Amino acid sequence: MRDVNTDNITDVFMGYFGKDTNPRLREIMLSLATHLHAFAKETNLTHDEWRRGIEFMEWAGRITDEERHEFVLLSDVLGLSALVDMIHSVPGGTSSSVLGPFHITGAPPLAFGADMKRHYEGPVLLARGTVKNMKGEPIEGAELDIWQTAPNGMYSSQDPDQDTYSFHGIQTTGPDGRYGFTTVKPVSYTVPTDGPVGDILNATGRHPWRPSHLHYIIKAEGYRTLVTEIFPDDDPYLDEDTVFGVRDDLVMKYVEQPAQTFPDGFELSGKVNEPYLLADFDLILTPAAEA
Ligand code: BEZ
Ligand code: FE
Repeated sequence: MRDVNTDNITDVFMGYFGKDTNPRLREIMLSLATHLHAFAKETNLTHDEWRRGIEFMEWAGRITDEERHEFVLLSDVLGLSALVDMIHSVPGGTSSSVLGPFHITGAPPLAFGADMKRHYEGPVLLARGTVKNMKGEPIEGAELDIWQTAPNGMYSSQDPDQDTYSFHGIQTTGPDGRYGFTTVKPVSYTVPTDGPVGDILNATGRHPWRPSHLHYIIKAEGYRTLVTEIFPDDDPYLDEDTVFGVRDDLVMKYVEQPAQTFPDGFELSGKVNEPYLLADFDLILTPAAEA
């Protein structure tokens, strides 16, 4: 095609596709091109502006490595990660939420009752609950991959002072579907702002804060894997999470308890002398999609 113009360019682009192109890829590329071309026309995008856009993406590429995922962060602050999540959420189960860029694989096993707080300063949080199906029946053998920040607001992969797997662990539920562990109360923290995403936040007058949370990925045979996070109801950033991850059903209370009520069966049993926080939160899984 030699008479390409602003009206036909999307059709011309699609016309270049081979006839054996995967239909789903064709559908996605058509929609992407339609919206991208409309975006350039609607905004009357200039060469300079698009060059800056490309420089932005090049910077994001340069800064990305095994531990720093700037494109994930970009998707998160644009609300795209949260939107994809919501489009595919299944009613009746615990809501899913953003994975974020700080999950690492290979976390060590965390036995029921084990402690992740160790020597870190801050209030003890006892988190527990039952992993259930939609009928309310406990799920045995569910695997909870748990991670959170240290009290300094950093994940282990961001912080040279932490061990690789500090505040990461994997717990498997027994026949009663129960999980339980102690940790330090998570804190609100900022997403990384020293890269191109930080520049965008700054240029658009946005703050980089996330409300404090515990991350979980819950896997169980026959159930859909749930990626989620739970938030305490008193966090000041609950209504302005910079990555749009908060859902009503993921907000719970940390209830302060006197030290003498600390239960048996935990690594810290008998060792807690100050009031501690209790977070009771059940996690409901939905059935796996039929293959
Ligand atoms: C997180 O919760 O770890 C996170 C999510 C999105 C962007 C940055 C961090
Ligand atoms: Fe997080």
